[in-house]
Amino acid sequence: MTPPVICIDGPSGSGKGTLCQMLALKLGWHLLDSGALYRLVGMAADKHQVDFTDEQAVAALAADLDVAFLPGQAGEPSRVMLEGVDVSGELRTETTGLLASKVAVLPAVRQALLQRQRDFVQAPGLVADGRDMGTVVFPDSPLKVFLTASAEERARRRYKQLKDKGDSVNLATLLKEIQDRDRRDSEREHSPLKPADDAVLIDSSSLGVEQVFERVLTEVSARFSAS
Ligand code: DC
Repeated sequence: MTPPVICIDGPSGSGKGTLCQMLALKLGWHLLDSGALYRLVGMAADKHQVDFTDEQAVAALAADLDVAFLPGQAGEPSRVMLEGVDVSGELRTETTGLLASKVAVLPAVRQALLQRQRDFVQAPGLVADGRDMGTVVFPDSPLKVFLTASAEERARRRYKQLKDKGDSVNLATLLKEIQDRDRRDSEREHSPLKPADDAVLIDSSSLGVEQVFERVLTEVSARFSAS
């Protein structure tokens, strides 16, 4: 029997990443951070100076991407390796996010990453974090969650994150960026950001992390009797 997959989709800033980590830890399941794969393809294309408009060349990179996700040693965060180099720090930067968004619009890249993402399915189960996990990558998943939050709330969260890092940021600019990105993501032709028909919709605008987690655990218990 194929191990089960829980899909958590939604825009950035909705709290998906944290929720997925908490779920994977609680259930003892594997985790797929699909955004990291798009980020790694963007980084590899940049490193090898591949023209971002050359769809086939970027897709070829995606198909042969040499990456490893290494669990952290005791008490240390996990590490991501690209072509043997630790890129964990660079992976999460705004610059890398921009590179990722450029490669994510290319259908051939999305196609090249499809099987790679499906290969993450391993017993006892997988928690998949992304934009199209429920709609495209794992359409048969028994639990699909679409987590969202208002653009204003996501801008506030991002503002706080950047402020805490010591970056100088402007809330109005962040909000505008988020609104523009939402429009691009939901209007793009291939794998637009939208909930699967059978997804459970959760708006985290006025919910704490724990509240969202509890809500999803209720859905998990209802669907996976052994959990
Ligand atoms: O979630 P993130 O910020 O790490 O995602 C990076 C980029 O990849 C972002 O532009 C959205 C895109 N992405 C995607 O198109 N499909 C996914 N399943 C995951 C991410």
